[in-house]
Amino acid sequence: MSKPRVFLTRRILDQGQRLVQDFCRADIWPDELPPSHDEIILHVRGCDGLLCLLTDRIDPQVMDAAGTGLKVISNHAVGWDNVDVAAATARGLPVGNTPGILTDATADMSFALLLAAARRVVEGDRLVKKGGWKTWAPGYMLGADLCKTILGIVGFGRIGRAMAHRAAGFGMRIVYSDPNPADREPGVEASPVDLDTLLRESDFISLHTPLTVETRSLMNAAAFAKMKQTAVLINTSRGQVVDQSALYDALYTKRIFAAALDVTDPEPISVDSPLLQLDNCIVVPHIASASWQTRQKMSRMAAENLIAGLMGKPLPNCVNPEVYIRRK
Ligand code: GLV
Repeated sequence: MSKPRVFLTRRILDQGQRLVQDFCRADIWPDELPPSHDEIILHVRGCDGLLCLLTDRIDPQVMDAAGTGLKVISNHAVGWDNVDVAAATARGLPVGNTPGILTDATADMSFALLLAAARRVVEGDRLVKKGGWKTWAPGYMLGADLCKTILGIVGFGRIGRAMAHRAAGFGMRIVYSDPNPADREPGVEASPVDLDTLLRESDFISLHTPLTVETRSLMNAAAFAKMKQTAVLINTSRGQVVDQSALYDALYTKRIFAAALDVTDPEPISVDSPLLQLDNCIVVPHIASASWQTRQKMSRMAAENLIAGLMGKPLPNCVNPEVYIRRK
């Protein structure tokens, strides 16, 4: 029997890529930069499966270009806002993602950003390297304590909860807002509050919400106006959750103290973005899940979702399980 044909929009780490290549005839996009939308359309034609990254827009055009043989879309990410899931569901196509395994890596990075912004680590490093370190002084480069301050977590899912555990270890108090408040998190004191209360009371605000119609530009000028002047914003969710021009104004005018972003809108952020001129804004290139171990696990999970879909089995991690109900 001939192997199923799949398109991988990029090389993935070896554990997952080996699985895919053992099971499939794989066309793997070889470049460092992603294929364009047109290139995806060209390569996906006649494929049985598609393994894509968060950099790829997977819309009805892509699905239709693949044709009726397409059995599965496996997204190498926990977020799936780059895939038109409603369109996939309408076509009976399961969409896979990679939840759970990147929770700790992402929470680690969120906390690293929180500490770095609070204590001006990146700004200090830049200053030293530019030859700007002249002396030690009592009032020099002051930042914020963590202990006994309040961390507001927006989105109390897996990653938000993992962030809460880290913050508790640093003696922070935790409040969270979530439209679907889940059960209490064992081992951590965390109080549910509405978003307005969270914005007003938090010293640090960390975003862990998916990008949805409701969360797009959630952090806008009105939200920044409610925050403490000493507040620090951390975003490892999606860039579009923050109105970047409102963030710039808030940072430039010192309406808030600092921000640290792993995600931007667009990605990559333009080197001309005024945000990059600000000492009180840290930007890193969407690397929250980028640890060796986590990216191996993501590659495996994405490969396993792909292969399950090709075999007509339920995906181990499926964002639209209703496709299976509809099929019955
Ligand atoms: C990263 O942002 C992911 O969604 O996996």
